[in-house]
Amino acid sequence: MMALPSSSFIFIFIFIIFPTSHSIPFILIHGIADQCDHPGVKKLTEKLISFSGVEGYCVEVGNGSWDSWLMPLLNQTKVVCEKVKQMKELKDGYNIVGLSQGNLIGRGVVEFCEGGPPVKNFISLSGPHAGTASVPLCGSGILCIIADNIIKGGIYSDYAQEHLAPSGYLKLPNAMPAYLDKCRFLPLLNNELPDKRNSTYKERFSSLQNLVLIMFEEDTVLIPKETSWFGYYPDGAFDPILPPQQTKLYTEDWIGLKTLNEAGRVKFIRASGGHIGISDTDMKNYVVPYLKDQTSTEHSTSKTGSRRMMRGVKRRELFIAT
Ligand SMILES: *[C@@H]1O[C@H](CO)[C@@H](O)[C@H](O)[C@H]1NC(C)=O
Ligand SMILES: *[C@@H]1O[C@H](CO)[C@@H](O)[C@H](O)[C@H]1NC(C)=O
Ligand SMILES: *[C@@H]1O[C@H](CO)[C@@H](O)[C@H](O)[C@H]1NC(C)=O
Repeated sequence: MMALPSSSFIFIFIFIIFPTSHSIPFILIHGIADQCDHPGVKKLTEKLISFSGVEGYCVEVGNGSWDSWLMPLLNQTKVVCEKVKQMKELKDGYNIVGLSQGNLIGRGVVEFCEGGPPVKNFISLSGPHAGTASVPLCGSGILCIIADNIIKGGIYSDYAQEHLAPSGYLKLPNAMPAYLDKCRFLPLLNNELPDKRNSTYKERFSSLQNLVLIMFEEDTVLIPKETSWFGYYPDGAFDPILPPQQTKLYTEDWIGLKTLNEAGRVKFIRASGGHIGISDTDMKNYVVPYLKDQTSTEHSTSKTGSRRMMRGVKRRELFIAT
């Protein structure tokens, strides 16, 4: 009986002396019209590295902003999948920080990347997880929705699907049959097609340690901004906006969001600011804790995370203007 306390003592002792040896690196995946060497993305990557003290890498897709617009998201996912498999630094696991469209690529890597290293924490800033009803960067409000409706005959065409990245997650609630039939990315990623649901995607997504979904209160790029939390319009109408827990994706648990949430692993964060406009304070409260030392302190860190969430920091300092 004496062996147990003494060996756990040694374990604790070693852990205290070498706390940082458990840290795993993160990768950052940028959004549309962006690239790793753009000042906003570069600065954000550098700040996350410096605030967390862990290694971090911005992973580029092709030649950056050009490809972020024109390469279909399945192709972009393939590029990142190949890259993460080749990065020796990630072989024991890593965390993903996604910016906007980059979140869908990141989720694609989690769900589709055969033989990739394990993803532990997924921190999403302004991710169009349930789709968006407006082409990103078009601007805000009803005008864009109307404009999108005008092109809706085109957005689900083979041409658009092969040449315009956002066509992979533009989800017009009043064109659901065309969306489900022709959209080549989000219906797969979200296991939306009844005859094509793949339990492997669900299994992989549900194995995340933490899923941190940050929605920005003044986000006018994502329509609706609640898509950052997997909230969306009901099929067939532009209102009301359903909270994530009332969507079929959640209630029928197509990808494991419900499973994760019931296990206390989803953090729904509301931050002030515009699209991916995270302040240093919010970065430290909501992102950095999940980048630090997750492998051995998962439990205590997630408690800290939720306590911090309730404190509700209010800052308006915009970090990146897109
Ligand atoms: C890079 O972008 C340019 C346009 O700026 C494009 O013409 C070219 O094909 C792209 N190259 C690659 C390798 O994707
Ligand atoms: C995307 O992938 C498909 C299928 O692998 C390929 O035919 C197509 O050329 C790729 N497109 C781009 C822009 O890379
Ligand atoms: C589900 O996805 C996995 C991994 O990509 C694949 O191996 C499997 O064949 C897929 N299953 C079905 C039924 O499509």
